[in-house]
Amino acid sequence: MKRAHTPPPSARTAKAPARPVRKSRPAAAARPVIDIDANRRLLNNYRFVEHEGLRLLAGWLPRAATFELKCEMGRTLWEYSQHVNALYLRLREIQSPAFQPPSDPALVRVMRELVHAPDEFGFLLALFREINPSLIRALESHEKATFPNSDQPSVHVISHALLDLRGQMARVEPLLRTAERTGKITAAARQWQRYIARLLAAAGGVSGREKRIAAPAAAPAVRREFKVPREAARDDRFTNLLADQVAMPNEELYDAHTIEEFERYSTEMLAAETVAFILYSVEGMPWEFQYDSARHLYDEVRHCLMGYEWMRAHQMDPFKSPQYVHIYKWRSQFPPVMQYCMLTMGNEEHAFPYRHRRVEAHQQAGDKLSEQFVRYDIADETQHVRFGRRWLPELLKHAGEKRSLADYSTAVLKVWADEYRTGKLTLNVE
Ligand SMILES: [Fe+2]
Ligand SMILES: [Fe+2]
Repeated sequence: MKRAHTPPPSARTAKAPARPVRKSRPAAAARPVIDIDANRRLLNNYRFVEHEGLRLLAGWLPRAATFELKCEMGRTLWEYSQHVNALYLRLREIQSPAFQPPSDPALVRVMRELVHAPDEFGFLLALFREINPSLIRALESHEKATFPNSDQPSVHVISHALLDLRGQMARVEPLLRTAERTGKITAAARQWQRYIARLLAAAGGVSGREKRIAAPAAAPAVRREFKVPREAARDDRFTNLLADQVAMPNEELYDAHTIEEFERYSTEMLAAETVAFILYSVEGMPWEFQYDSARHLYDEVRHCLMGYEWMRAHQMDPFKSPQYVHIYKWRSQFPPVMQYCMLTMGNEEHAFPYRHRRVEAHQQAGDKLSEQFVRYDIADETQHVRFGRRWLPELLKHAGEKRSLADYSTAVLKVWADEYRTGKLTLNVE
């Protein structure tokens, strides 16, 4: 009996001519040049560079004086954290543990050295004219050289990261060119950039796949061992740095109070700088802590910019606002966990009744812009208090604190109430 699937003889003779036998492998299969092991190593390199980069940006942020660059550092740091998280989610699918040091010590050396720049421009030139462009080249090549379907989850991460990285370059490069035009960039900063460029070339770039040169034998004399800054820098447009915080006009005086309310927002860079201090100083906490802190930091930069936007919309010059930089100096004399407790459980936790009163006052006055700004601020600050509640117990454990969370918080909030709230900031450490 004939098998059911055998075609009749007429059908066999009518079929298309047999396909020629290929002598070589199909071109499409040979195209991708990144196999899964190379993919893992490369994704790990990108994750490492942005993960280290965000911590170093946090270290430098309080020390950078140029206001616009300081803001861009906050945004870049937060965008890096988004990429690190996306890469972490991808990497954990293809390697365990997800976070691993790069296999090439030359790349580790680049990121270890980067922080010891002679000044803010040395650091920023090295980051935005060497590291970021090398990362972009690596991602652009990876995006096309990996398996487009099999590795689509990586392509998705890469294409979205590229959007941010190109945006950073478009915003920061004009600021660096202005610094060049106005003579801010020293020979030391240039020398530092060249040194980092050579270290990076010795690593074959971020990918490790570019042509390598010999590593420089020693660091240049302009290298300055980095220490976490105890003072917050401001550029010379700020003329009022050390004013004491004075009582605000009574809330009943709507117009006068509202001006002061938004002028205070314009000084929230101080909160960003304290989170930066903590983010740089605390090592060995879970990634989620860094991720939340990167957002916390950038939110405070945005709150500061919200103050700038409001003041400019009301024909006021935010650079004339008192900067209260002694608040950063005062907080930075305490251990990072204590600063975190004062910021989240002191300043942020206690601000809500006032903020809600302000929303109501702006609604009654028909001041839509002020109302919207404060409501966005409340949304962010709610998250900051949540971060505090989540991470304070972990930070206490991390710091080896023996007191209970309740006892520790009570003691810290007493210092905060006695010194910060009264304005009698005691600087015990110089
Ligand atoms: Fe804030
Ligand atoms: Fe906050």
